[in-house]
Amino acid sequence: MTKKILMVCLGNICRSPMAKAILIKKLKEKSIDWVEIDSAGTSDYHIGGKADHRTIESGKKHGIDLSSHRGRQFEREDFEKFDLIYAMDSENHANILYHARTEDEAKKVNLILNELNPGSNQSVPDPWFGGEKDFEKVFTMLDKACDIIVQKIQKEEK
Ligand code: 4NP
Repeated sequence: MTKKILMVCLGNICRSPMAKAILIKKLKEKSIDWVEIDSAGTSDYHIGGKADHRTIESGKKHGIDLSSHRGRQFEREDFEKFDLIYAMDSENHANILYHARTEDEAKKVNLILNELNPGSNQSVPDPWFGGEKDFEKVFTMLDKACDIIVQKIQKEEK
């Protein structure tokens, strides 16, 4: 059965496209082809827009091509389409949960850093006002969190 995972941030041009691309790369390396990943933003600021140039640069450094990304807004129907919804920070986590209609829908939502540090409720800092270093920091956090997500998926497979 296909598993569907959605990464969500505010603008869908920095953190969530990066999280999506990192996870896709890691799954490909493990030949896991039964997981689908997408990303979205809770805001409508960058619908149809490309990833931030700093996101693209950061990806390039790590062998990831983000040039084809286009922004889209999170929608209520995403609860029906996805099995897991990872929020990048607590504000977006709250915004997503606001749209949940059932307990089962609410249970699909988690902060991505809770995979790395369970129960810590930490946020991936918004790098929008930052520089290259901040994007690199975000990349490292997401890379570690995605390692854990892949480990979990591998266990499910068994
Ligand atoms: P993201 O970063 O949520 O990680 O994509 C941001 C991108 C754009 C804005 C804020 C955060 N903005 O205000 O336009």
